[in-house]
Amino acid sequence: MESFLNKGAKILVTGPTGFIGSPLVRQLFLSGYQIIGIGRTPPAEELKPYFETFHFLDLNKTPFNTALLKGVYAIINLAGLAHNASAGDQGLEAGYMQLNAEVPRMLAIAAREMGVQKFIHLSSVKAVSETSPRSQPLTEETENLGEPTSLYGRSKRVAEKFILQALENSSTQFIILRPPLVYGPNPKGTLLQLIRLVSLKVPLPLKSSKARRSFISLDNLCSAIEACLDEKNESSGVFFVSDGDSIGVVELVETIANAMGSNSRLVAIPEGVIRSACYLVGKREMYEKLFLDLETGSERFNKVFSWRAQKSFKQGIQEMVKSYLEEKDPR
Ligand SMILES: NC(=O)c1ccc[n+]([C@@H]2O[C@H](COP(=O)([O-])OP(=O)(O)OC[C@H]3O[C@@H](n4cnc5c(N)ncnc54)[C@H](OP(=O)(O)O)[C@@H]3O)[C@@H](O)[C@H]2O)c1
Repeated sequence: MESFLNKGAKILVTGPTGFIGSPLVRQLFLSGYQIIGIGRTPPAEELKPYFETFHFLDLNKTPFNTALLKGVYAIINLAGLAHNASAGDQGLEAGYMQLNAEVPRMLAIAAREMGVQKFIHLSSVKAVSETSPRSQPLTEETENLGEPTSLYGRSKRVAEKFILQALENSSTQFIILRPPLVYGPNPKGTLLQLIRLVSLKVPLPLKSSKARRSFISLDNLCSAIEACLDEKNESSGVFFVSDGDSIGVVELVETIANAMGSNSRLVAIPEGVIRSACYLVGKREMYEKLFLDLETGSERFNKVFSWRAQKSFKQGIQEMVKSYLEEKDPR
């Protein structure tokens, strides 16, 4: 990637110790940026050298001290409650809204007041929908598909609205990214479960799945975020960003198995049977992830930020599986 003019600039990163934050902080440090971290827990030893400063703050509880933004060029807001949950629990909903929507609003207002040049926010494809219509990847032009169904998606959608309200017509550039599932070393959630099952050679009833899903590797996402820091690019907006081509669920399982040096064990069970069984035992979300499409384009982001995914899906999956095998699944 070409070198930007603003190397050495101060970047404030919230959530810098998380799954995405840790590799991002390392990458930005190596690119010459000064990192100011905000989080509730101290960074791991190997991450500590990358921080110029680290502020211990619970963003849910502490009113944001705008003085922390003195001299800051960009805010990258990664702090968030990422685990998905269904609607219904009001306490849980309040928790999602607080960290995923109220905190971004507070930070965006602070960025505007302090004249921060860039506000980069990690939203999610889930701010739009849990699924996409067959063969119609979601794009920035996709018609309104209705309110997101998950608490996570709803809170992400509200955050996008808050940021637009706070920063439209201000001198702070805002870039809201909507990545799909992010994969890389130390995976979580459904991907981790799939890897475990494949490594145990458990037969998986996924052969009938026609689902296609979009993904982005950690490396590609970190490079996309870094591209947003380019001071020559002043475009604000909401962008989908992904590896590029979507992947079939069957291909995903086969790629994981190949990376383990084994074969996938897929069995064909009619999709309707699986759907009924999943709904019956309250696993609707799992069914959707494995049998319904969630495809997004990345074309607009790629064009506006002159960016291309560098790492292929196969390479990214191989690295993820390698890290899993090296860790020997300590969880
Ligand atoms: N992972 C994905 O597949 C994916 C996909 C699309 C979008 N995203 C979005 O990307 C962002 C980062 O995701 P991630 O996977 O890296 O999540 P993660 O691993 O759960 O990291 C979340 C970070 O937020 C911090 N945090 C949580 N509560 C906080 C609080 N009250 N005050 C201050 N910091 C707090 C955590 O640090 P402490 O606990 O130490 O405070 C941690 O560093 C999230 O907004 C997520 O919604 C993720």
